[in-house]
Amino acid sequence: MPARILDGKALAAQLRASVKPGVERLAARSIRPGLAVVLAGEDPASQTYVRNKIKACADTGVHSDLHQLPGDVAEAALLDRVRMLNQDPRVHGILVQMPLPKQIRAATVLEAISPAKDVDGFHPANLGALVAGLAGVVPCTPAGIMRMLAAEGVVLEGRSAVVLGRSTIVGKPMALLLLQRDATVTVCHSRTARLADVTRQADVLVAAVGRARFVTAAMVKPGACVIDVGVNRLEDGRLAGDVDFAAVREVAGLLTPVPGGVGPMTVAMLIHNAVNAALRSCGERGLD
Ligand code: GUN
Repeated sequence: MPARILDGKALAAQLRASVKPGVERLAARSIRPGLAVVLAGEDPASQTYVRNKIKACADTGVHSDLHQLPGDVAEAALLDRVRMLNQDPRVHGILVQMPLPKQIRAATVLEAISPAKDVDGFHPANLGALVAGLAGVVPCTPAGIMRMLAAEGVVLEGRSAVVLGRSTIVGKPMALLLLQRDATVTVCHSRTARLADVTRQADVLVAAVGRARFVTAAMVKPGACVIDVGVNRLEDGRLAGDVDFAAVREVAGLLTPVPGGVGPMTVAMLIHNAVNAALRSCGERGLD
């Protein structure tokens, strides 16, 4: 039986609707949640992501400002912009779109963002909170995936979860969240030996490697839950995930599509984190 396809769009719409009471509580205090989006350079994929995020803000009552900087911007200028946004009381959330141009040290920029305004959850204080099991901002993509798994009733306790990719944006926080839920977690990467032997053990397989159709049917345990984080542009212009969708759907039990899977959930989590940042900035209770 082919895999059930997880509808990320529908779930994201629910998540977006769930922030409305938070936006209304802020409106009662005459506060509009504000998100600053910083984009350095003209990478087409980043431009698309940023456009989607800004549209989602408009749809949910979040004010957004795009800070477009040239691709050759100096690190000091970018840091100045971040520090200015840290000081601006109308800005509750700051997002610096990744990847950054080569001349800029991403870790330095992320560390400059006020942890309370770090809607991506990439600041060391928020990543540290995740490691320590403390409250903090959780990165949007892994947080969205955890919500997808919960909505589908996927059991994690005692199950084998394999994360493909060790990025700070997805792989590492994903592994920590799965571990928090008592899964037995393995993180694989480009140097992992006998990769298919490892992935075939996975009850839950999260693919975040950035290579089109990298995960083949032979790498998937029958009935597994397969989460595809990849967004890769094929030569013919079409999008493909990190998972060979047509082949893997014949083996997996549950599978996320690209587009329409993880992507919309990431954007919805960003809105959630931005509204939360605004609520917390005025001493209000955060969203669930
Ligand atoms: N680039 C790819 N995904 C993300 C994300 O979730 N946040 C930011 N800031 N950049 C990204």
